[in-house]
Amino acid sequence: MARIPEEKIDEVRTSVNIVHYISQFINLKKAGQNFKGLCPFHTEKTPSFMVSPQKQIFHCFGCGRGGNVFTFVMDYNKINFIEAVQRTADFAGILLPKQEEASPEEISFFERLYNINESACSFFEKSLAKPQYKKHLEYIKNRQISEETIKSFRLGFAPDSYDQLLMHLQKEKFPLEEAEKLGLLQKREKSAGHYAKFRYRIIFPFQNISGKIMGFGGRKLEEKQQPKYLNSPENPIYNKGSILYGLHQAVNAIRKEGYVILVEGYFDLLRLVENGIKNVVASSGTALTEDQVKLIRRYTRDVYITFDSDDAGVKAAFRSAVVIEKGNLNAFIISLPDGEDPDTFVLNNGIKEFIKLIKQKQLPVDFQISRFLQQNSSPGIEQKNTFLDEVLNSLLEIKNSLKIGLYIHQLSDKLQIKESFLIDQLNKLKRYHSKYAAAEVTPKDEEESTLIIRKGAHKAEAGILGVLINGTKEEQDYILQKISLDLIENEDFIKLFEYLLHEIEDRGSLDSSKLISSFQQDASLSKLISELMLVEFDNGIKFSRDCLYQLRKWQLEKKSNEILTLIKEEEGSPEALMHYKQQLMDFRKQLNNLEREQRKIK
Ligand code: GTP
Ligand code: MN
Repeated sequence: MARIPEEKIDEVRTSVNIVHYISQFINLKKAGQNFKGLCPFHTEKTPSFMVSPQKQIFHCFGCGRGGNVFTFVMDYNKINFIEAVQRTADFAGILLPKQEEASPEEISFFERLYNINESACSFFEKSLAKPQYKKHLEYIKNRQISEETIKSFRLGFAPDSYDQLLMHLQKEKFPLEEAEKLGLLQKREKSAGHYAKFRYRIIFPFQNISGKIMGFGGRKLEEKQQPKYLNSPENPIYNKGSILYGLHQAVNAIRKEGYVILVEGYFDLLRLVENGIKNVVASSGTALTEDQVKLIRRYTRDVYITFDSDDAGVKAAFRSAVVIEKGNLNAFIISLPDGEDPDTFVLNNGIKEFIKLIKQKQLPVDFQISRFLQQNSSPGIEQKNTFLDEVLNSLLEIKNSLKIGLYIHQLSDKLQIKESFLIDQLNKLKRYHSKYAAAEVTPKDEEESTLIIRKGAHKAEAGILGVLINGTKEEQDYILQKISLDLIENEDFIKLFEYLLHEIEDRGSLDSSKLISSFQQDASLSKLISELMLVEFDNGIKFSRDCLYQLRKWQLEKKSNEILTLIKEEEGSPEALMHYKQQLMDFRKQLNNLEREQRKIK
């Protein structure tokens, strides 16, 4: 693997703000000096993942992972160090010195697929801009989508031609079999060669979170064309259940607004964007998947669903709500008048009216109930039962008992049924399902904490190292004067401590951002360092004095206990016994002195 010069690696690291980088993937909220979010490396409900802008590090207090931006890129994408530097450099817009020109085999398979899609995407964009296809640009503009939105979403046009795209890809020397894999080209049946699959359609590129093109959707332009939307087939870089259309463009707005609006169609999305509502993503007509919910969870917890108001749309909305709640996010439903989708609603009524609807968002269960009551003005027992069955069945999938309680309450209130009856029914269903469903394997997740620094002694050791790493020159000097190495027991701490001593003695100071790079390859030390870098204290001298006191005290107590055991077990020589007793007294005296001193200071 190619080597990148040390200075270049430093340049990349220092030009990327780790908070910005991580924010692409995780919803970070300010918490004091740091930012906090849900850890991407283990499942958790309360955030213990910290990112420090001052120190340019991250650390999860739940699972212990931590490090600098490179560590994050490596862990998050499961790639090696060099690849992580490369990727971070891309993000920073830094060109790494070219090694040998990479041969086609050397560019990774995935990279090549993305390159092909990118090239096809710009082919479609350019086609849309050609004077001879003005008519099709007009189609989009007539639907009141502006030039700016067209650019930002990279809309394009696939000409009514079997070979224009083919020729374009050939000219760029892309392997055609790979373009075929991506669903851009199709092999001819009767003769040799390929032809373009997207023809005479408006093209919507699907971008991943960093903007790379994963696939395409193409809308027909003529009534007789089939299907209405032609999408890229599933392929190594496109999995339709794990992307959300428009997320790349929506990320900042979602963070700013604190919620995301979920729509079905591309045009629904573009309509809202066109009218200034940018925190919107589209599920592209399929029911929302768990993977998509995970994607959303990186940015927000509140999802407002607004689907077509027909029966199919309502079913899909409700189904999506369940998937969202199952994923421990909050679902709300924005309901539209019959026969409208967000696109037509805004066109017909204006964006102000839509904003009113957003404010009237409902809990899914309320939405379901009001819809039921609308359709059955005075429902009989049987109708109520069928309806209850449906609602209770979907409640089974929700694990959050608070939410279930709330739902039960609403049902009871609006349908005039006793809560106790509803709970009984729910439990019956539960028993019925657990009898027939395969036993669910619950992963041992959550507070499966691997932290080393929890126990007392380690905490004090960590405190001292924390001050050494984060403290002022004066605080560092204080520790260097007072500490003796035998106070520290844990091997990782000792290794780190020795390194710190050398650095401080050799250079007179410590570059803590380099600390992680120095141990980048050592996973357990990386974790430890990022945790230590987040140790907080007001007064480093007082704090380390307390830690040193604890360590000395424990050391003496431990020694005393060892001697006591020896005394108990000693059978033979009275001299030895005398000697031990003498030692024990000595330790106890030291311990007394230590405690007295500590009290004096306090
Ligand atoms: P317009 O009719 O142009 O306003 O588009 P729309 O987005 O409103 O389409 P519609 O409401 O019919 O469908 C909603 C979404 O479902 C679309 O945006 C597509 O993502 C998806 N969809 C609709 N029809 C098809 C189809 O024939 N094939 C596939 N794969 N997806 C479709
Ligand atoms: Mn529509």
